[in-house]
Amino acid sequence: MILLSLILCIFASSSLRLVAGHASIWHPSMYGFNVTMQTFSYDNRPVAPLMNMPFSQWWFHGHLAYPPHPEDVFELPAGKNVTTEIACNKGATTYFASSEGGNVQDPNNPNNVCPGSPTSEYHTTGLSDVKGCGLAIAYKSNATEVQPDDFTIFSINQTCVWDRYTNFAVPERMPPCPNNMCTCAFFWIHSPDSGGEQNYMNGFQCRITNSTSNVGLATSKVPRRCGADPANKKPAAVPGNCTYGAKQPFYWFQAEQNNMFEGTYSPPFYTDLYNFKDGAQTDIFQDSYASIPVPGPNQTALPVLAVPGATTPAATVSASVTPLATPTTTPAVVGNGSTTASAPTTTGSSTKSMCKRSASAFSRRSLPSTDRSSAHALLARKLYSMTRRSRTLNPEKRSELWRPF
Ligand SMILES: *[C@@H]1O[C@H](CO)[C@@H](O)[C@H](O)[C@H]1NC(C)=O
Ligand SMILES: *[C@@H]1O[C@H](CO)[C@@H](O)[C@H](O)[C@H]1NC(C)=O
Ligand SMILES: *[C@@H]1O[C@H](CO)[C@@H](O)[C@H](O)[C@H]1NC(C)=O
Ligand SMILES: *[C@@H]1O[C@H](CO)[C@@H](O)[C@H](O)[C@H]1NC(C)=O
Ligand SMILES: *[C@@H]1O[C@H](CO)[C@@H](O)[C@H](O)[C@H]1NC(C)=O
Ligand SMILES: *[C@@H]1O[C@H](CO)[C@@H](O)[C@H](O)[C@H]1NC(C)=O
Ligand SMILES: *[C@@H]1O[C@H](CO)[C@@H](O)[C@H](O)[C@H]1NC(C)=O
Ligand SMILES: *[C@@H]1O[C@H](CO)[C@@H](O)[C@H](O)[C@H]1NC(C)=O
Repeated sequence: MILLSLILCIFASSSLRLVAGHASIWHPSMYGFNVTMQTFSYDNRPVAPLMNMPFSQWWFHGHLAYPPHPEDVFELPAGKNVTTEIACNKGATTYFASSEGGNVQDPNNPNNVCPGSPTSEYHTTGLSDVKGCGLAIAYKSNATEVQPDDFTIFSINQTCVWDRYTNFAVPERMPPCPNNMCTCAFFWIHSPDSGGEQNYMNGFQCRITNSTSNVGLATSKVPRRCGADPANKKPAAVPGNCTYGAKQPFYWFQAEQNNMFEGTYSPPFYTDLYNFKDGAQTDIFQDSYASIPVPGPNQTALPVLAVPGATTPAATVSASVTPLATPTTTPAVVGNGSTTASAPTTTGSSTKSMCKRSASAFSRRSLPSTDRSSAHALLARKLYSMTRRSRTLNPEKRSELWRPF
């Protein structure tokens, strides 16, 4: 029964396949670029998920002692888009030459994040479970000196990790780095549908190029859960409860130094749920806001942007994307400070069970309408049992259960 569930889950739903897949950003500028299954006494490859770990093991993925070559720096041109590679396996990237398993890129789909997992027609049409990822920057050249609250998320891709080639927009006003070198990191937390409280962090050397501004970043603050959250019985966004401006990454579900304390079933996401708009985070600078009221669930005053042209990042998601429980928080402020607190909108199913959400996404997108309700019911049952079982296993067993290959 369980096996049948597993097979059904994995083969039936590409979104599940994806969220189950472990992934990392890949680039020679990263810490741990050449770490393999054998480097540590446990699997500490860059793609291995991080949870319940002591600080030294999750911070920079425990890879600070595996630095990149000094000349390998990821360049971030201010005001431009950059393309990163995100994959379940180094062999699935253009850096396959230094991968243990060689080249495993998908010849039929260069954008495949997890080749080896079954590809299907759903791969290109079902985007039900992406929860976004972010790039953070610390204006410190020496990664060893970077502390958790030094990081500020400067770019979000809410459709992460769907594409191997994932683009990130660099804010136009990013100032230059000290000694022309900053420290960056990739952060991702996936949907709870796959049954694990998994965090991902990979550090890399970076620098801002083509800067046109010298205004520094504001002190980054802990993000607050303020977007619509139908899955947790919160139908509408609460804009007064948001953190505005420079925000820290989520440090969640580790044994030490968390800044987020959400439960297993309500992970923090790099989406509007925590006021992380899609794209460049344009309001993270010291002079971005004229005023920021203290956020709270009952706060009615909204922050006022100060810099002309520094509009809140657009909350646009490509038309093919229909996040099921991802809210859309309306931008609170615009331009010179005229406040546009229009009614919050939500795009989300209020279906209780996460499994049912996946199943219904699958059935809506992939089947003729006559088959939908029965497929829905079947998958809902299968996924529910999978998720239940997954939670009773120890982390090692659990990740085996959901492993893509
Ligand atoms: C990673 O491995 C490749 C191939 O062995 C090597 O050329 C490169 O210098 C290594 N990079 C680092 C940072 O160790
Ligand atoms: C960056 O990509 C976005 C699409 O996500 C596009 O709208 C924008 O024009 C691009 N920006 C630049 C500078 O190319
Ligand atoms: C980086 O910082 C650490 C800790 O302060 C220090 O030990 C190390 O020497 C520094 N490295 C460089 C290249 O300055
Ligand atoms: C996210 O990445 C995808 C794939 O590269 C890209 O099409 C999209 O424009 C990116 N979104 C943003 C906001 O940059
Ligand atoms: C950065 O600026 C230089 C000239 O200052 C220009 O040649 C180069 O194309 C710019 N790079 C990007 C990515 O815009
Ligand atoms: C406000 O944000 C806090 C901190 O993230 C969160 O615990 C709380 O649920 C939020 N309340 C509302 C009503 O948005
Ligand atoms: C917000 O208002 C509600 C209803 O008036 C009240 O019960 C709650 O204590 C208030 N919360 C805060 C944080 O002030
Ligand atoms: C803000 O800009 C709008 C449109 O440009 C203008 O009509 C309005 O007077 C400005 N408000 C202030 C306070 O400058």
